[in-house]
Amino acid sequence: MKVLVAYSSATGNTRKVAEAIHLALPDADLCPVGHAPNPEGYDLVFLGCWIDKGLADEAARAYMSKLHGKPVALFATLGAYPDSKYAADCMDAVSELLSACTVVDRFVCQGAIDPKLVEWMKGLPKDHGYGPTTSRKKLWRDAESHPDDADLEAAADWAEGVLAAL
Ligand SMILES: Cc1cc2nc3c(=O)[nH]c(=O)nc-3n(C[C@H](O)[C@H](O)[C@H](O)COP(=O)(O)O)c2cc1C
Repeated sequence: MKVLVAYSSATGNTRKVAEAIHLALPDADLCPVGHAPNPEGYDLVFLGCWIDKGLADEAARAYMSKLHGKPVALFATLGAYPDSKYAADCMDAVSELLSACTVVDRFVCQGAIDPKLVEWMKGLPKDHGYGPTTSRKKLWRDAESHPDDADLEAAADWAEGVLAAL
């Protein structure tokens, strides 16, 4: 089975997850989406994106449009807690973008938020939608250490499980 791990990553979090998946599936090809090959020759594509304003980032979305009909194992990183309803909603929204494909499974974990963005949000009024409330400041701090070793191990286990189930 020919497997591609294609990912988009602006600050490195999703790349780390993609690399952990690739370590678990050493026969797979690993590529950032900007250089990813034509998916036609692959039986399964692990596609990684980061969440940008509730949706897959732009580079990942561009590659998704080339995946018509492929089985896709979707993975993502985001600032929010991965077990939150918000994270599930984001993954549902990304999966909808892949409605022409078969999403065989999905994995999401938290990723450190770009410190420049956090600084900007800290300067917003508290009642702004992204402003520095106590719970948001905790979320930003909690995100800082992710993806951590446990996330990367979970991603590798997930990828092995996806392949074993096919
Ligand atoms: C411009 C921008 C928009 C973001 N939008 C969201 C968002 O809507 N929801 C969220 O949970 N995290 C959001 N994040 C956090 C990223 O999804 C998170 O830090 C991710 O792990 C970045 O992945 P990368 O290091 O692979 O680029 C955003 C980050 C940036 C820089």
